[in-house]
Amino acid sequence: MGNLCVFDHPLIQHKLSILRDKNTSVKEFREIISEIAMLMCYEATRDLPLEEIEVETPVAKAKCRRIAGKKLAVVPILRAGLGMVDGMVSMMPNVKVGHIGLFRDPETLEPVKYYFKMPPDIQERDAIVVDPMLATGGSASAAIRFLKETGVRHIKLMSIIGAPEGVKKMTEDHPDVDIFVAAMDDHLNEHGYIVPGLGDAGDRIFGTK
Ligand code: PRP
Ligand code: URA
Repeated sequence: MGNLCVFDHPLIQHKLSILRDKNTSVKEFREIISEIAMLMCYEATRDLPLEEIEVETPVAKAKCRRIAGKKLAVVPILRAGLGMVDGMVSMMPNVKVGHIGLFRDPETLEPVKYYFKMPPDIQERDAIVVDPMLATGGSASAAIRFLKETGVRHIKLMSIIGAPEGVKKMTEDHPDVDIFVAAMDDHLNEHGYIVPGLGDAGDRIFGTK
């Protein structure tokens, strides 16, 4: 699985252990999802191109490097992906945010689209799709297909927990997309939940169960 990157940084792993705990409160769950997104964003943007500039410090001129005007968009898959947006935006305050609304049909586990709103110049941007759970991969694969239909060329997927089934589907459907996760779990259960996972991410972020 060539384009899969698992972030095993101690801070991320520590926070993930709190997310997995079924006794973690909605407040703490939401905060930690956001913090992990921030830490993952730091790593996943490591290849952003830089340009040299000169800055005058109070002492002398300094050669510095800044991000070379790369246009980015963060694209959460609703609902649970929304939980990762704040962390990303706190790292990249001017980033544009597009939204894709999908839910998994509980019977078929197939993704159903109910919302799609992108920045008007989305085809000029690189996109980072965010969704905490990559389970069957149906939602992420469909979201990325819809994004590609708008003309977006470079797409990364950032999830907190991945299942082997989801990574396999993504690499088959979208071999050009780099996948970043904080953990690769064991398998899916008969309801399509990641085992051991963390349960239903959307319900735990929004307190709907
Ligand atoms: C969850 C999760 C992903 C999807 C992953 O969303 O946030 O979007 O399931 O599963 P998949 O890889 O099998 O497609 P859900 O459908 O529960 O909707 P929600 O975010 O609105 O709770
Ligand atoms: N969606 C979730 O929220 N959790 C899972 O384990 C699988 C899909």
